[in-house]
Amino acid sequence: MEVIIQSSREVSSKLAARNIANLIRRKPDAVLGLATGSTPLPLYAELIRLHREEGLDFGKVTTFNLDEYLGLAPSHPCSYNHFMWTHLFGHINVNPSRVFVPSGLVEGTAIEKYCERYEEEMRRAGGIDLQVLGVGGDGHIGFNEPGSSLASRTRIKTLTARTRADNAQYFVNADAVPHHVITMGVGTILEAREVNLLAFGEGKAAAVAAAVEGPVTASVPASILQMHPRTKVFADEAAATKLVRTEYYHWVYDNKPDWQRI
Ligand code: PGA
Repeated sequence: MEVIIQSSREVSSKLAARNIANLIRRKPDAVLGLATGSTPLPLYAELIRLHREEGLDFGKVTTFNLDEYLGLAPSHPCSYNHFMWTHLFGHINVNPSRVFVPSGLVEGTAIEKYCERYEEEMRRAGGIDLQVLGVGGDGHIGFNEPGSSLASRTRIKTLTARTRADNAQYFVNADAVPHHVITMGVGTILEAREVNLLAFGEGKAAAVAAAVEGPVTASVPASILQMHPRTKVFADEAAATKLVRTEYYHWVYDNKPDWQRI
């Protein structure tokens, strides 16, 4: 894991955006795995700026979102489909036929087949080149809550009370937060060629320390990224406060060979 600690979420997000822009310029038909929540908002704002001001071209890019709430239509203001069009897709030249967000409207026994098809679409697109991740305060990635199989694939999951409470701010009231979601699995995420995990604020400090320096355990799903060969962790100083080897992470970043710089 490469841990990149920056002074603020804005600086960190600009760097993460440049990393994605470098990929798209190198590979215009790149496949991106995308996340929702408050964490990637400054990243998406910077990608929009790069599109508008520097001509970053998303015309051939394919995207797959990590997860969606079951029971919410794509047009529902709290759906992740709606989130993505509001905060990113509606402001860049992405081709809607290359945008994949799990449907929140599949039900019952159809869910398993639907999830298999979602994975099949990822394979048909050539696999994910770069997966953007946030991290839950409890170490979840996507909606893979603690205890999720580290080999899991896209499937239905039940949210913990903590995650429902964390996400209640986006809904009219706490009871309105769905209990069930579709999420890419931990095993699905691990197949991405590169993973960029973003974590900002002191509320993420314990999860970041456990994920980066703790044991690999299903109790902290993000810790499995220690087994991924190309993971970058973009953290602000607040999210890095509980890390032990901070000095070394700065040292590595400051002494990178030029060709390795973002
Ligand atoms: P947040 O959520 O970005 O809203 O903090 C992250 C997550 O739960 O994965």
